[in-house]
Amino acid sequence: MYRQYLRQREAKMASGGKLKVLLILGSIRDGRQGLRVAKFMRRKLEERNFDVKFFDPLEMNLPLITQPVHFFGPERKGAPKVLVENEKHVKEADAYVIVSAEYNHNVPPSLTNLLDAFPCSDYSYKPSGLVCYSMGPYGGMRAAMALRAITGELGCLSVSNIFGIPTVQHAFDEEGNPQNDHMESGAKKMLDQLEWMAHAMKNHRDKVGTPS
Ligand SMILES: Cc1cc2nc3c(=O)[nH]c(=O)nc-3n(C[C@H](O)[C@H](O)[C@H](O)COP(=O)(O)O)c2cc1C
Repeated sequence: MYRQYLRQREAKMASGGKLKVLLILGSIRDGRQGLRVAKFMRRKLEERNFDVKFFDPLEMNLPLITQPVHFFGPERKGAPKVLVENEKHVKEADAYVIVSAEYNHNVPPSLTNLLDAFPCSDYSYKPSGLVCYSMGPYGGMRAAMALRAITGELGCLSVSNIFGIPTVQHAFDEEGNPQNDHMESGAKKMLDQLEWMAHAMKNHRDKVGTPS
């Protein structure tokens, strides 16, 4: 069965049917470790032939959002340009990979600021994968638990396997090259699930649509 799935996947890729993944980074801190993790994840996603769009709230110069984009009405009249221009990437994505630090046992404010800026309807009926990290021994798992609830509410429930990265300061160099063997296997476990779910959910969306 799994072989059949792989064959179908290859056929789909050959016909140009790339899945779109939105890679979201949650930290804007000076000297942030998160960018290293995101660089690594971007390569892992591209190796799987995903079409990757990267949201870095620092690069996007994302302000503190005072109203989510859908509160400006269906025409998005008067909404911040950065939200209007980027909403299509949230909407068009087939899956999300969220790279999150852990701040005070929770999710960094720059990440919720970004996630909250778009409506659930943009995220719904697609899977997400969580990549969490910290400088300590627990790999950002408490932030991951908070993200499980957030992704559930957004409609892009996270796959069961969480890629948690303890002592992140030793795990990657500045270019996101892994410094130990666990990074490849940790990413693979989560991405295997995410890829399967993204294909399954896209196939079903294409076949029967989504409830209105
Ligand atoms: C405001 C703040 C709160 C933090 N809280 C935690 C925490 O609860 N648990 C933890 O393991 N590390 C915590 N840390 C340390 C982070 O794991 C570490 O700074 C990590 O590099 C943050 O990600 P970033 O560099 O991408 O911002 C905290 C760091 C900051 C700046």
